[in-house]
Amino acid sequence: MMAKTIGIGVTGGIAAYKIVDLVSRLKKDGLDVVVIMTEGAAKFVTPLTFKTISGREVLTDLWQESQEFKVQHIGVAEQLDLLVIAPATANFIAKMAYGIADDLLSTIVLANTVSVLVVPAMNSNMYRNTAVQRNLTILNEYGYRVMKPESGMLACGVTGPGRLPELDDIYDEIQQMLYPKKDLAGKRLMVNAGTTCEDIDPVRFIANRSSGKMGFCIAEEASARGAEVVLVNGRCQLEPPAGVNVVPVWSADEMCEVMRKYQPACDVIIGSAAVGDFKVATVETHKRKKPDDKSEKWVLELVGNPDILQELGKHKTGRQVIVGFAAETENIVENARKKIETKNLDFIVANDVTQEGAGFETDTNIVTLITRDGEVKPLPKMSKREVAAAIIDKVVEIL
Ligand code: PMT
Repeated sequence: MMAKTIGIGVTGGIAAYKIVDLVSRLKKDGLDVVVIMTEGAAKFVTPLTFKTISGREVLTDLWQESQEFKVQHIGVAEQLDLLVIAPATANFIAKMAYGIADDLLSTIVLANTVSVLVVPAMNSNMYRNTAVQRNLTILNEYGYRVMKPESGMLACGVTGPGRLPELDDIYDEIQQMLYPKKDLAGKRLMVNAGTTCEDIDPVRFIANRSSGKMGFCIAEEASARGAEVVLVNGRCQLEPPAGVNVVPVWSADEMCEVMRKYQPACDVIIGSAAVGDFKVATVETHKRKKPDDKSEKWVLELVGNPDILQELGKHKTGRQVIVGFAAETENIVENARKKIETKNLDFIVANDVTQEGAGFETDTNIVTLITRDGEVKPLPKMSKREVAAAIIDKVVEIL
């Protein structure tokens, strides 16, 4: 079988040096790697480094005479099975969004007809900038797969989102795009994500720290593996994955109603949302004024919310697989097992939310998969996307 050819487009960011390792790993897998560098990228890493690692001519200049290709940008594009832009700078993302072709790599992007993986890496403020976010949305709309950068300490000294994702994650994404596993093809999967919100008055509400990252990763992974996905989304600020049916909801009651409506058509249901257990007994119709006397107390009366998974568990059909999460702080396995019983689940994903790198808001999670028939499988710290892949593997096994 002929080796697949990957184009790695390297643009001018400090993370460019990390891509040398990625190219080395892809080469070791027997893949043919063509590196295309922008002028900026060549300020961070020399083309000679990539040439030595990839074993191929490195392409940098739209006007350079190529030994291999008569019309360089067309010839390269015709060879590729996948094009990866990593790191993708804000400038290059903008060029891709607007079809600007003023150097070799941007011209190849336009001439390219195969799937594109974009791996942004930049300063946090640049990443959050409305223009950059809008351009990333445009790339998503083109059908490009856009990875989310990681949060952490950046080379510029700022802490926040913008760091190149782990090479393992980029590598896995490339594998999935080159050799897509479609083991959920023909299946309908519903997942909930994020926090529910309970109104106190017209301006105040009760919520929790769930960012929705875990649920969004599950939606993304399931969709990549061929499922038709409904993502019932609490209050999340995340970019919805392309190709997924997103249903925004506010309260636990609303989430429950929506999930009950979709339940009969689903093969798989995964409850990763942090559903509020309580709501306010009487929601005030007007904004409550600040008291003149600071010692005046405001006592809120709370009543129980529906347990959504338990409700769904009651109406589970024989073929349906229902998966819950358990956010625990002690006696993880024992408490998680009780939830399998009370909610009629097939398995549960238990996370000790007190551990660093696990639970709410983080890009990683540390979970144990516990099945109804007693299997307990602790997993190491992984990115939430990898956790999602492990959960879907288990679902496929049960299906
Ligand atoms: O969103 P992130 O920032 O990425 O964080 C991920 C997460 C920590 C929210 C996620 O990994 C997680 O643990 N989600 C479940 C949180 C939770 O509510 O756990 P629980 O042990 O209280 O509930 C057990 C299960 O019942 C959960 O699947 C929950 O969705 C469900 N539940 C709980 C209460 C309720 N009223 N209805 C429910 O359906």
